[in-house]
Amino acid sequence: MEPAKHEEISVQDETMDKMKFKKCSQIAFYRRQKLLHPGKSLYRALLDSVTLSNDNVKFQIINEANKVPLLVEIYEIEGNIFRVKINEVAPLRTRYEVPDVLIKEPTTKRLSITQKETNILVLTSTNEDHKLHITANPFQIELESKDETILSMNSRGLLYFEHLQPPPKNSKTAAENKEDGSADSAKENQKDLGLWQEEFGSFLDIKASGPSSVGLDFSLHGFEHIYGIPEHAETLLLKNTSDDDAYRLYNLDIYGHKIHDKIGIYGSVPFLLAHKPNRTLGIFWLNSSETLVDISTKAVMEHIPSRSPPETTKQRVVPQTDVRWMSESGIVDVFLLMGPTAFDIFKQYAQLTGTQALPPFFSLGYHQCRWNYEDEQDVKSVDAGFDQHDIPYDVMWLDIEHTEGKRYFTWDKKRFQNPRRMQELLRKKKRKLVVIIDPHIKIDPAYTIYSQGKSKDYFVKDRNGKDFEGVCWPGSSCYLDFTNPEVREWYADLFAFQTYKGSTDILFVWNDMNEPSVFKGAELTMQKDAVHHGGWEHREVHNLYGFYQQMATAEGLIKRSGGGERPFVLTRSFFAGSQKYGAVWTGDNTADWSYLKISIPMLLTLSMVGISFCGADVGGFIGNPEPELLVRWYQAGAYQPFFRGHASLNSKRREPWLFGEKNTQIIREAIRERYSLLPYLYTLFYRTHAEAEPLMRPLWVEFPEELETFGVEDEYMLGKALLVHPVTEQAATEVGVLLPGSDEVWYDFRRFIRMEGPGKLKIPVTLESIPVFQRGGSIILLKTAVGKSIEWMTAISYELHVALDSKDSAVGELYLDDGHSFQYLHKKQFLYRKFTFHENRLSSSCADGNGQYSTECRVERVLILGVRQQPISVIINYQDGKNKDIIFTYDDKTSTLTLEKLLLNVGTNWEICLK
Ligand code: NOJ
Repeated sequence: MEPAKHEEISVQDETMDKMKFKKCSQIAFYRRQKLLHPGKSLYRALLDSVTLSNDNVKFQIINEANKVPLLVEIYEIEGNIFRVKINEVAPLRTRYEVPDVLIKEPTTKRLSITQKETNILVLTSTNEDHKLHITANPFQIELESKDETILSMNSRGLLYFEHLQPPPKNSKTAAENKEDGSADSAKENQKDLGLWQEEFGSFLDIKASGPSSVGLDFSLHGFEHIYGIPEHAETLLLKNTSDDDAYRLYNLDIYGHKIHDKIGIYGSVPFLLAHKPNRTLGIFWLNSSETLVDISTKAVMEHIPSRSPPETTKQRVVPQTDVRWMSESGIVDVFLLMGPTAFDIFKQYAQLTGTQALPPFFSLGYHQCRWNYEDEQDVKSVDAGFDQHDIPYDVMWLDIEHTEGKRYFTWDKKRFQNPRRMQELLRKKKRKLVVIIDPHIKIDPAYTIYSQGKSKDYFVKDRNGKDFEGVCWPGSSCYLDFTNPEVREWYADLFAFQTYKGSTDILFVWNDMNEPSVFKGAELTMQKDAVHHGGWEHREVHNLYGFYQQMATAEGLIKRSGGGERPFVLTRSFFAGSQKYGAVWTGDNTADWSYLKISIPMLLTLSMVGISFCGADVGGFIGNPEPELLVRWYQAGAYQPFFRGHASLNSKRREPWLFGEKNTQIIREAIRERYSLLPYLYTLFYRTHAEAEPLMRPLWVEFPEELETFGVEDEYMLGKALLVHPVTEQAATEVGVLLPGSDEVWYDFRRFIRMEGPGKLKIPVTLESIPVFQRGGSIILLKTAVGKSIEWMTAISYELHVALDSKDSAVGELYLDDGHSFQYLHKKQFLYRKFTFHENRLSSSCADGNGQYSTECRVERVLILGVRQQPISVIINYQDGKNKDIIFTYDDKTSTLTLEKLLLNVGTNWEICLK
């Protein structure tokens, strides 16, 4: 058959066109929910119906107006988590409950009923720390922790639940109404509410199941600092919302998106954190349909309980934040994570949705991308450019034009005649290749993936049961239905080396446009009335589409290696749990200072919701950064988890050596700095994988009692040890840095001097400076030199930076394994070491005796910062009882003691004593 001829789309040529995207007031379920104002709830709990089992407590609630009963289930989950589910007792059809996001059915504990009266039911947790006070009329739940009320649900009466109904008789479509002119005012009204159909511009969404929106309010007592719910190009602290300006969680491809906007971009994680000095709290709203979140912080009067007579009862003003979640469909399924610390919350959330996958080591290096590297020759010369300019890098990236007419899994035969040869060249350099693979499939019967997808019936359907057709880069396309496990399995197999011609084991994958992006679709995405596997409408699963593509891709990369190798998959769209499958980047940012600045809170927000492996396009994707901005962006990116330079089709070439010798030198230094830090970074990745500790952390996470830190978003902690304050102002000559912690000691990371402070400091900067500070009490391992790529650095020796705290102590760790396989997991092939400085002794010991991995790699140098006086002698005590005097230097200006030429094995026990 003749291949269908479809026009290819070459570039989205316009930046965000407001008309293409909805304001909140243009979203029908939001308008409907907003008709319900705070006040007495219509719901009453039928406490006679209460049943208690090992798993949960169940009872019914009834809507006094429509008499439709709902079933409430309350679970206590191991590890200080509560789950509340609300669904219809007898829905007309099954309502969608999000599958595949929770890593397992959570382990429940038995709640006890400790009080039951006509209007009140009290449930107590197993350890008796938590109590749930359930009021029957109006229905409300208050959650108390050790006698402190932390949170209440439905206290503002905003529980909202549209029960499924049969379609109204004589319902006509908007189109039919227009034709016969029958749109009377009742119909107009219905249309306004968008119950059965909704228009947006020329788009019509027909709701086969009718209205199905759900919502609930939460009042967080004593909290005014709220974080989370990415992805928005917004501040770290969530702002109060106003009418028509809620935080939107709806995955959209907004080219040239604005900053300081609550519209949803690319990905959604419906997980919010609240913090006050003695407690952190998490709310995870498990719903994958479009969701809007209203936030409002206010001051309220609180009674201080006192034993004195009532007339002397005192009151005080305390903050309270009201959060209202509103989703288009599904059920209410919400997890309350009780902390009490931020690190507890990270663990609790990971217990539900999984931790960050441990990435292959190479992916921590620098990635070089652009839309496009033109051909094999271009790749070769850019690759050589890095060597010529002595800049390390690990991964070369190919964008859409590497394919035959945007048919993913193929190669453009003219530009990339011999993809294997190109990969062999990179392999020789110990480097990797990443290629883009989007979810849309060009409609072309001669394209195997299309024809197979078609014959197997693997595409998403439109409302009439035909394959949904949309336009994307290749022109008319169909969209694989990744929600179908069979499609995912088939897709995963497409990555097999014998199937994906021209691919080798150094090729990894980039999933883009997976919101999904549909150029001519409503809000540039898929119609909500499209239909997926199991008959579910797209509206139910929209925010999961990218999650599933990345899941299938990661699975494919693991499979192709026979299960042995760790995958690397970057995705643009994501949902709760995406961290299990790879990395996320913040999409199409702009080459402007404001986007460099906002990248920090955006990445911190992703990190707090479990997505530790995240980054923003260095340089800014759209436009052309001036050299100073590019330099600053490299310096910032060097200290962010995913570090990739990328530029749009219309941007000028921007390889790091194109901006004059001085700028090349500074960029080189920034990238080399990243490479020397890799032992520390890889250890942090292990910690995030094993313990759910984010790499990038807002200051408040490390300093939870210090109010001053709660809103800081221009600097952050990288692990426990480093405070990074990227320069994000043009022509900066100084930056204002906050060094927190009343008895913390801070050191300049590269000059080793002890900083004045803690507190707010003005730090002078030049274009060369990256303000980074090491926290007293920490030990960091660095490499003493860098190589062309990470694989060249395996044997390079280590250097320890021991930064003493006010008690002259410090601790640190090193995690190491083969960097690419799952042997660390299956065969305990890892090495985990601990380094401690205490009472003038630095010792190296084992941090996990299960580790079987060994290395010959040496510690060559040790720097001890903050040594009060020059020691008389320094001695090494070896494991075998031998010892040796070592030569040292002491710099009394910086109080730094330097020990060199040590040749200590990093994986054995030893001790260095200062006398
Ligand atoms: C949009 C992505 O955000 C961008 O990074 C990519 O270069 C283009 N699509 C082309 O594939």
